[in-house]
Amino acid sequence: MTIDKDVIKIISNARSVVFFTGAGISAESGIPTFRGKDGIWNKLRPEELANFDAFMRNPKLVWEWYKHRMEIVHKSEPNAGHLAIAEMQNMFDKVTVVTQNIDNLHIRAGSKTVYELHGNIERNYCVKCKQFFNKDFDISKGAPMCKCGGLIRPDVVWFGEYLPEDQFTAGDNAARQCDLFFIVGTSGVVYPAASLIFTAKNNGATLIEINIEPTEVCSSVNYSLYGKSGSILPELIKLIKDFRDNKD
Ligand code: OAD
Ligand code: ZN
Repeated sequence: MTIDKDVIKIISNARSVVFFTGAGISAESGIPTFRGKDGIWNKLRPEELANFDAFMRNPKLVWEWYKHRMEIVHKSEPNAGHLAIAEMQNMFDKVTVVTQNIDNLHIRAGSKTVYELHGNIERNYCVKCKQFFNKDFDISKGAPMCKCGGLIRPDVVWFGEYLPEDQFTAGDNAARQCDLFFIVGTSGVVYPAASLIFTAKNNGATLIEINIEPTEVCSSVNYSLYGKSGSILPELIKLIKDFRDNKD
């Protein structure tokens, strides 16, 4: 795709940049998205797998599903999109990633400031004493149990649960303070995460969406760049460098 020169100018002149990301940025790493044609929620029911009551009813089933997802994540590598975002840390005064993904790929790609709104699949905690665990549990005999007798669960946000307050507050502050807010590979329909888009807009940031197709929020953004994030983001790096080189 050709990217408008005006857009490149705005990006190149930005100082504080936020990347708000969703499942689409990890699609090219082989991790399935939630919505759309091959989306997870087309085949599986979130109320059975991503819900606290369902977990307490059938912890083994929920654990098996998260184990399966963890295996996919462990086999995957950050793709050109994640790597481009990490590289952009050298190109702007401030780069913040606010992600809805639990796959840890931004951190593995080298991004330093990453706020995880929906948790991280690599972490677990006890529902009773809240102790955290960072290990791979054997679930062949059922869901893992804590010494205190409580069930251990993945540290991810399920439907109906609050987002981790520190992560949301930090993401919200970044959205308020940035001058450029990218919305990458998210359908923008899950709240409160998606509210950050409007927080950034109401505080004067330019919004640029990168997605393979128009989304719920496309009418609210300043520019939409359609294509795969793994192609567009590296292309942006090249265009920003060209723009800055030719300026002086
Ligand atoms: P969705 O599955 O809702 O949306 C993925 C978006 O990525 C869609 O808009 C796709 O068009 C786009 N997409 C797919 N491949 C792409 C690519 N290669 N490049 C760019 N865009 C691409 O995923 P999320 O918006 O992340 O919540 O979903 C939000 C939340 O809903 C998730 O965090 C999860 C889910 O239920 C929880 O688990 C709490
Ligand atoms: Zn415990």
